[in-house]
Amino acid sequence: MATVISNERLANGVYHLRVRGDYGGAMGQFYMLRAWGAYPLLSRPLSIHRVNGDGIEFLYHVVGEGTAILAELKPGDSLGLEGPFGNGFPAVSGKVALVGGGIGVAPLYYCAQELPGSDIYLGFSREAYLTEAFRPLAAELTVNVGGYILEDIDFTQYDHVFVCGPQLMLQAAQLKVMSAEAAGRQPKVYLSLENRMACGIGACLVCSVSCRDGKRKACTDGPVFLAEEVVFHG
Ligand SMILES: Cc1cc2nc3c(=O)[nH]c(=O)nc-3n(C[C@H](O)[C@H](O)[C@H](O)COP(=O)(O)OP(=O)(O)OC[C@H]3O[C@@H](n4cnc5c(N)ncnc54)[C@H](O)[C@@H]3O)c2cc1C
Ligand code: FES
Repeated sequence: MATVISNERLANGVYHLRVRGDYGGAMGQFYMLRAWGAYPLLSRPLSIHRVNGDGIEFLYHVVGEGTAILAELKPGDSLGLEGPFGNGFPAVSGKVALVGGGIGVAPLYYCAQELPGSDIYLGFSREAYLTEAFRPLAAELTVNVGGYILEDIDFTQYDHVFVCGPQLMLQAAQLKVMSAEAAGRQPKVYLSLENRMACGIGACLVCSVSCRDGKRKACTDGPVFLAEEVVFHG
């Protein structure tokens, strides 16, 4: 069991959880969290937000029962933490853009630490959070509240683009890749998918992702996929 250091509310329904212990992982990997007994049945996946000398940190949005229980955690409380799981974002060089929408900014902070000097684009529908924490890590920081952050980005300027956010944003990013390719520039664009998960370890197929070469599992083959590989439905 891990011990909560702090669980701070950053914005409406958004919390920053710091946990003590010897936990690590790569950018874009995730942990399965559990702060309850038998019910709810399943642990909940959260991306690594930050790793530090004391332990590990998560950023989460309260959307249902599991995350509501997490929001009640107090310093000194215990919780179950399994991981790290998933493939994560690749270590890349060249000109990099990190693009987050809403709670999709969570894994990008760790990416920004690992890839200093990246351009960072953060989009929020209503209320921005953590933007000042990102600022010193960014070559350029662009924040968009209430609009579409992808409209602020020219993919052709980058060698690599990491995107995490709601599915519609990921689909829009995929379309931008096609336009960039049509313009003769081929940035490698990686999408972090947030499919529903159950086991988190490749055993249940709940997290199935349609890809051009067939079905893959978000938990073990992902959650990060090249934009051109994914076939979105709906
Ligand atoms: C690899 C991965 C990394 C993630 N990282 C983060 C993170 O860093 N921060 C964060 O806030 N959330 C993250 N999520 C989403 C998070 O796991 C879900 O929001 C959470 O499991 C919902 O649990 P709940 O019990 O509160 O809600 P539930 O009661 O299970 O569901 C409530 C609502 O949330 C929706 N929901 C449930 N699971 C997901 C999901 N996986 N993705 C999107 N919507 C969902 C449901 O459709 C429903 O509308 C991640 C998901 C994955 C797969
Ligand atoms: S969550 Fe069970 S196979 Fe991916």
